[in-house]
Amino acid sequence: MCSEAKSWWREFFESPDAFPLSCFPEPDVTVHQVRGIKQLLGLRPEDLVADICCGHARHTLPLAAEGYQLVGLDISEMMLHVARHLATEMSLRLRLVRGLAQQLPFADGVFDVAMNLFNSLGYMDDDDNEAVLSEIARCLKPRGRLLLDTRNKKFQILYAPYRQMVTLANGKPALLQCNYDRENSRLNSVWTNGDDPADVYHTASIRLYSPAEIEDLLTRAGFAVKSRYSEYDGTTFQGFERQLIYLCTKR
Ligand SMILES: C[S@@+](CC[C@H](N)C(=O)[O-])C[C@H]1O[C@@H](n2cnc3c(N)ncnc32)[C@H](O)[C@@H]1O
Repeated sequence: MCSEAKSWWREFFESPDAFPLSCFPEPDVTVHQVRGIKQLLGLRPEDLVADICCGHARHTLPLAAEGYQLVGLDISEMMLHVARHLATEMSLRLRLVRGLAQQLPFADGVFDVAMNLFNSLGYMDDDDNEAVLSEIARCLKPRGRLLLDTRNKKFQILYAPYRQMVTLANGKPALLQCNYDRENSRLNSVWTNGDDPADVYHTASIRLYSPAEIEDLLTRAGFAVKSRYSEYDGTTFQGFERQLIYLCTKR
């Protein structure tokens, strides 16, 4: 296994810094995304929907608020804590489960729809990343739909913040440096004290898959790719955009 693929994500998403450093889209963008999710997936009230790697339930909660049936899963206790707090504030009851995406704690064929959104695939080594997709396929009904919102490898390599000052949750500055490891196709990031590079706050390492590689993973997991988008409004992916969003069905 590539040494960078160790479980950095388990620490990273337990830190309040995960909020500013993940650059979650603004609320108005999430509203627009939720509208797109409903349309792209053709969501029906009777669908049982799994949001795998739901984070603080940015999409899960507004969909549940509209009456859809959602289950959110994430490994981060901190993210789930925020999600539960928001659910209480919204007087919503929905299942938020702590678990691993590569070992889903759900029975075979229970969900009509699954989502894996905002670049949540690729944190682990190839075997575990692939296991996430095959686990999602296992838990979907036959012809179940998957919306996978992932990174466009080319865009990431060109436009990654190779050196940028950012702000941590406590308001302190940090220096973000990214480095693309071509041999392992991983984008490695380190956040340090700008005055002392040995003072490391966080690290991250993400396997960047080309469209052909992702489609290979999806096929092996048992999915048929129906459409490729660059935006939640259904704009077709051309090859150069930031996001690559797949609509798939279980074969
Ligand atoms: C970038 S956030 C995206 C969250 C959410 N989908 C959104 O759009 O806001 C990635 C999330 O995936 C979770 N995650 C990453 N790897 C995971 C794994 N193997 N199993 C479960 N959760 C995981 C993290 O804890 C984090 O909350």
